[in-house]
Order: sequence, then C-alpha cells, then structure tokens
Amino acid sequence: MGNSDYIYSTMQIREAHPSDLEAIAQLHARSWRTAYRGMLSDAYLDGDLVADRRALWQQRFDTPTANQTVAVAEIDNQTIVGLACAFGDHDARWGTLLENLHVAQGYKGAGLGGQLVTHIAKWCSRTQTSDVLHLWVLAPNTAAQGFYRRLGASQVEQAVWDTPDGNRVPELRLAWPSVAALLQQRRSAATAATERPAP
Ligand SMILES: CC(C)(COP(=O)(O)OP(=O)(O)OC[C@H]1O[C@@H](n2cnc3c(N)ncnc32)[C@H](O)[C@@H]1OP(=O)(O)O)[C@@H](O)C(=O)NCCC(=O)NCCS
Repeated sequence: MGNSDYIYSTMQIREAHPSDLEAIAQLHARSWRTAYRGMLSDAYLDGDLVADRRALWQQRFDTPTANQTVAVAEIDNQTIVGLACAFGDHDARWGTLLENLHVAQGYKGAGLGGQLVTHIAKWCSRTQTSDVLHLWVLAPNTAAQGFYRRLGASQVEQAVWDTPDGNRVPELRLAWPSVAALLQQRRSAATAATERPAP
C-alpha cells in the first residue's frame, strides 16, 4: 500500500458508472482546491466548485462522446480515491488526450496515479488508432510534471489556458510518443518493484 495514509484491503481500477458522478465531482473539486491553489483564484477554488465540476461530469455521463473513457480507482468496493478521463485519438499529431488525472489526498504516492495512467494506456492500445498519448498540465504544477516525467512523458509544446476564473495561466503539453513503449516501461517498473528486496 506504499505511502498511503489510509488502510484498505482491496483496490480496483474500473470503468466509471453514472452512479459515480457525485463521488467523482467531489474528488475533482477537492483535488483542484489543493493542486491548483495559487494557480486559480481563492475565490474560484473556495466557491461552488463542486457544482461546477458536477455540471461537467453530468454532461460527460449524459452525452458521452464515442471516444471518451472514464476510469476510477476504488478501494474496498465503495470509496473512489482516483479518477482518469481520456479522449481517444483527440489530436491528429498528439493522439489520445489524458484530460483529467486525480488521486485523493492521503492516497498519493502509493502508485495509484501510475496505475491509472497504465489503465488509460492499455485502453489506448486496445481501442485507438494513434500510439501517441498526451496531456496538458499547468506550468506552475511542477509536482504533476515530476510525476509525468517520471513515467516517461516529455514537454512538446507550451500554450496559455484561459482559466474558468477569467485569468491566463501558462500550460505545457506533455506527450508519450509511444503508448506501446509506455506500457513496456510500466511492465519493467512493476517487475523491478516485485524483485526489490523487502526493507
Ligand atoms: C499527479 C498525481 C495524479 C500522481 O499520482 P500518485 O498516485 O501520487 O503517483 P504515483 O504514486 O503513482 O507515482 C508514480 C511514480 O511517479 C513518481 N512521482 C510522483 N509524484 C512525483 C513528483 N512530484 N515528482 C517526481 N516524481 C513523482 C513516484 O515516485 C512514482 O515513481 P516510482 O514508480 O519510481 O516509485 C497525484 O499526485 C495528484 O492527484 N495530484 C493532484 C492533481 C494533479 O495535479 N493532477 C494532474 C493534473 S494535469
């Protein structure tokens, strides 16, 4: 269970259901409040962010696009502690877009983010034409960049995000040029972890 602060018996990554909407909206809002503090305004983050995120997920569950997938990490068959959403073959050059990736506070650093990326990469290789996977990350969000780079992504572009609170924040496009290579790297990392001697 790595560095997680909490104890749990089982963890599964599964496709999200519409009944997960509220848990996903809450997790998404809580994660933004922490991860985007100082990047988006306090007024926006401390406002009715849950309603804002709920509206987004309601739309995604009510009218999913054909290329959309949503995965959740669930512990003990009842609590959602991670989420990932992707849009397949979203960009002609940069392939599938990993649009949201969030792990609940207290469960970070335990491998869940990496497992969610692996889950999305497997979905890409099963269902999408492009072998490229990319995402946008806010330039000040250096922690997430450290995570993505650790998994082998690198910066390919820079742009500016017109934020929902009316500001402009620089953002970076990071990409994995090969989903197949990413999956191979994840398999090697998993093997190395199981072969590591116990402390
Ligand atoms: C980014 C995030 C999804 C990572 O999930 P996580 O479960 O904490 O990450 P993992 O435990 O799976 O880490 C996987 C690897 O990345 C490394 N890693 C994690 N965070 C890192 C960081 N800040 N810098 C460098 N490496 C990092 C881990 O050490 C691990 O390496 P290892 O396999 O060699 O042990 C999570 O921290 C999060 O939800 N952050 C807030 C929301 C956010 O910013 N999302 C991204 C929006 S673009």
